[in-house]
Amino acid sequence: GSLTMYVDVLPQIPKVNGYTLANRTFSPGRLTIGMYQTKWKFHRDLPETTVFAYGTSAATATIPGPTIEAIEDTPTYITWENHLPQSHILPWDTSIPIATPKNGGVPTVVHLHGGIHAPHSDGHPAAWFTASFSETGSTWSQQTYTYPNVHHAGNLWYHDHALGYTRINLLAGLTGAYVIRDPGMDGMFKLPSGPEFDRHLVLADKSFYNDGSIYMNCTGNVPSIHPQWQPEYFGDVITVNGKAWPYLQVLRRKYRFRIINTSNARYFRLSLTNGLSFTVIGADTSYLTSPVSTQSIILAPSEIADVIVDFSTTTATESLLNNDAPYPYPTGPSPDQFNGRVMKFIIPAGPTNPPDNSTIPPKIKTYSPSTIKNARQTRYITLYENTTATGESINLYVNGKRFEDPVTETPKSGSTEVWEVINLTGDNHPFHMHLATFQAVKVQCLVDVNTFTNCMKTLNDAVACNITGQATGKIIDIPAYEKTWKNTVKMEPGCKTTLVVKFTLVGHADAGYPFVATGSPGYVYHCHVSYFARIHFLLLGYSERSRG
Ligand code: C2O
Repeated sequence: GSLTMYVDVLPQIPKVNGYTLANRTFSPGRLTIGMYQTKWKFHRDLPETTVFAYGTSAATATIPGPTIEAIEDTPTYITWENHLPQSHILPWDTSIPIATPKNGGVPTVVHLHGGIHAPHSDGHPAAWFTASFSETGSTWSQQTYTYPNVHHAGNLWYHDHALGYTRINLLAGLTGAYVIRDPGMDGMFKLPSGPEFDRHLVLADKSFYNDGSIYMNCTGNVPSIHPQWQPEYFGDVITVNGKAWPYLQVLRRKYRFRIINTSNARYFRLSLTNGLSFTVIGADTSYLTSPVSTQSIILAPSEIADVIVDFSTTTATESLLNNDAPYPYPTGPSPDQFNGRVMKFIIPAGPTNPPDNSTIPPKIKTYSPSTIKNARQTRYITLYENTTATGESINLYVNGKRFEDPVTETPKSGSTEVWEVINLTGDNHPFHMHLATFQAVKVQCLVDVNTFTNCMKTLNDAVACNITGQATGKIIDIPAYEKTWKNTVKMEPGCKTTLVVKFTLVGHADAGYPFVATGSPGYVYHCHVSYFARIHFLLLGYSERSRG
């Protein structure tokens, strides 16, 4: 049966401080956050669901996990503990590169998405650990992670990142939000603030059995190749902060929403009914130079939009947050009346009391410009699928390389590079890099994708396959609300996206950059659709540099 929408109130996600404050001075904070198997109520009429959740204790674990608040330049130390049972609540696929603890247990490792920190704290997929750290993966080195929070203020999130388990660990509930604050900036702006008016909306699609348990397929489209693997997981229930299609009663005033798409594969194209629009102030971990007003926002898995919604601009008493992004994006079917709905805002009539003193500043933040001048080098990164004769996807590699292959990219810390990412698949891909920040400066499509793909499958060299002559087709505009330093950029199918990539701190005095010692696992970059994420991680190595 189907669930009635808008019957559960949008939960307030608990917050924990990743710092200490005494005598108006911020000092580093230490947290212990565990992963627990617990029960969670996703909807009034759905029986309790067994989930994996983050929390500071078993009793306080939530979906999503607690929002971690950090202060720019004040380190946060987190010990992530695995308290999960011996077996997983969801089926996994052993035909892919996957963590394999000898004595069983659920392999986990946490990645702070958007963070800038040393490799041992980055949640490398092979740095997994099972309960009580009883078994660890090949690149695991320490229990406590250091997050220096040297990134400029903005929105991040944390999630599981274990090799081969990422998809089911996220689906089981292992996600949470993380915010780096700049108290000076908070004081300067009068954006909507406080727990009531500054809220996270953490989106995730899931499917459930009638008994409340989470549905995950356990048969593959091509069982002889991948017994369990299906190209992408799409849930028919849309959850926000751990509730299916919740509602929020608001005042007729401005609210700030930090919207994070934590889905495995679903893109959202969000819009509001009854004439309301979004004023976007930030994308991923960065602010925009100036606010951008828009009727709709497209969020790929892992992307974050920081928006203001002014409920005083409508006379209606409710507004629906809807989704009309095809799935897979952009060529799949359109959402139906279930997965096309996200949540409802109830806006009682009458004046706002107390009055809304918040304002949207005309200028927000200016970081270093995105210029390809002075780029140290250009890299060509080509995404293409290997398929069976019947068109079933077998794998998606980067430049024909697998996750297990040796490091190919070794940028220098402090440098700027140009990455030409060529997407030869039929779907859009959320291209995510750890450590670096980057932005798209040009998207131009290929004139003959088939010819180029066939050439790549033989030569595996974009220059030799004449990418310059090929990428002369249609130019696609980059939305104004994405023009800032991001950590995930959507790759249009059949097109080449030119990225300016900075391996240096953006918008911030250089407080020192993590460097990679010989033998370090380095960092990964990958598509954030977790079906692919398990396959085409590549290591991103850095040469050591002297400080200063
Ligand atoms: Cu949000 Cu490597 O991932």
